[in-house]
Amino acid sequence: MTEQITNEQTVALVTGANKGIGYEIAAGLGALGWSVGVGARDEGRRAAAVEKLRAAGADAFGVPLDVTDDASVTAAATLIEERAGRLDVLVNNVGVTGGMPQEPTRVSLDQVRLVVETNVIGVIRVTNALLPLLRRSASPRIVNMSSGVGSLARQSATTDALSTGPISAAYAPSKTFLNAVTVQYAKELRDTKILINLACPGFVATDLNGFRGVRSPEQGAAIAIRLATLPDDGPSGGYFEDAGVIPW
Ligand SMILES: NC(=O)c1ccc[n+]([C@@H]2O[C@H](COP(=O)([O-])OP(=O)(O)OC[C@H]3O[C@@H](n4cnc5c(N)ncnc54)[C@H](OP(=O)(O)O)[C@@H]3O)[C@@H](O)[C@H]2O)c1
Repeated sequence: MTEQITNEQTVALVTGANKGIGYEIAAGLGALGWSVGVGARDEGRRAAAVEKLRAAGADAFGVPLDVTDDASVTAAATLIEERAGRLDVLVNNVGVTGGMPQEPTRVSLDQVRLVVETNVIGVIRVTNALLPLLRRSASPRIVNMSSGVGSLARQSATTDALSTGPISAAYAPSKTFLNAVTVQYAKELRDTKILINLACPGFVATDLNGFRGVRSPEQGAAIAIRLATLPDDGPSGGYFEDAGVIPW
């Protein structure tokens, strides 16, 4: 594809945008008139998502991307550089649970490795590959898709009203790890224009949970879209859901 993006158009990349919440984030950003890269590892699923987004009027383009693969991530950064010359917004949406059950006493170490490799190391890999392009933006934003289950306050809560998610040695701790890494990015990037924040979409009906969630992917996407469109004096290093700040 040789189309070029106009200089005024905001350019975003959403990872894992072929389905679920990521697809709806891409749709929401596309509806703002942005040029949206649909990061997806499977060619067929990526092409189908791009086609559907474009049919709905979004300026979407496909970005082959497996967040666990160095070469794939480097190639994705090159594709965006050649197409747009910069990146304004990165939404690190990819996430896997690694499958349940995963009680700490009998979890498979491969399960833990896959989840940390994808949900944490994948985010660092993608973010660092795209940082040079984000630094060229006037108002760069990074949104990391976390989960309320990453909150240690919620993990350790003893009342049903606060506690959340099944016992998990891989998924929930991977989001805790991601939260801490994001805080560290915010500290390091404090004196730049980059705002980096964590979003929790709520319990959303997607493949991730066998469609047991109670919210729609569109509802889940809303908080990420809000953090992707923060004004220059917006927060950085924060952890948010629709209702507001999530306790660490
Ligand atoms: N659903 C919820 O209730 C919920 C709650 C809290 C937080 N979240 C978070 O929200 C985010 C989106 O979740 P979702 O519910 O929309 O899940 P989903 O429907 O399972 O979608 C996950 C996306 O990530 C992609 N992906 C997985 N591993 C990848 C890799 N190595 N490289 C590139 N893409 C990869 C999947 O692509 P394929 O199609 O190729 O597998 C898919 O596009 C995740 O970070 C999740 O942890 C979800």
